[in-house]
Amino acid sequence: MLIHAIAHIEFNAINLALDAVWRFGGMPRAYYLDWMLVAAEEAQHFRLLRDHLRSQGHDYGDFPAHQGLWTMCEKTSHDILARMALVPRTLEARGLDATPQIQAKLRQVGTPDALAAVAILDTILRDEVGHVAIGNHWYRWLCERAGHDPETHYGTLVAQYEAPRLKPPFNETARRKAGFTDNELRWLQQL
Ligand SMILES: [Fe+2]
Ligand SMILES: [Fe+2]
Repeated sequence: MLIHAIAHIEFNAINLALDAVWRFGGMPRAYYLDWMLVAAEEAQHFRLLRDHLRSQGHDYGDFPAHQGLWTMCEKTSHDILARMALVPRTLEARGLDATPQIQAKLRQVGTPDALAAVAILDTILRDEVGHVAIGNHWYRWLCERAGHDPETHYGTLVAQYEAPRLKPPFNETARRKAGFTDNELRWLQQL
């Protein structure tokens, strides 16, 4: 069920990346190339997890799934700045925090299946740092264009769209690699 839940997140993430491409016009070419790359990587993540489910006699669709990611996609469908703020650099970034904890639990289980899942999550975590970095890049670019301070405007968007609360422990190493600043990490710790 855990692997199924993550597979569902990856499936939504394919659609989210493609939604970022087709829904929002007038962005630089690099924006569209970045999100097409993300969509391709999300499809690889989904495939890895689905194959793993199948190796255990299950498949995608066997269990109920959680719609949080898609709800935020719908809420931000009229606002690219909110989308960049709240999907990649909030919900995907939460994956950076959660993945090492999930891997630790799987290592405790220690079966060959669980250890195979740990290896899949290593690949996913490495790629997700890149996705959050892309989100950070375009969030800052859009803030600059609109004349917003990225750090203070983020708090405004979190409140306005009722984004889920982020809880520690935060994966500071991965978040730094993905481009979060010291101020942003401090702000998270104060929540
Ligand atoms: Fe992913
Ligand atoms: Fe991602």
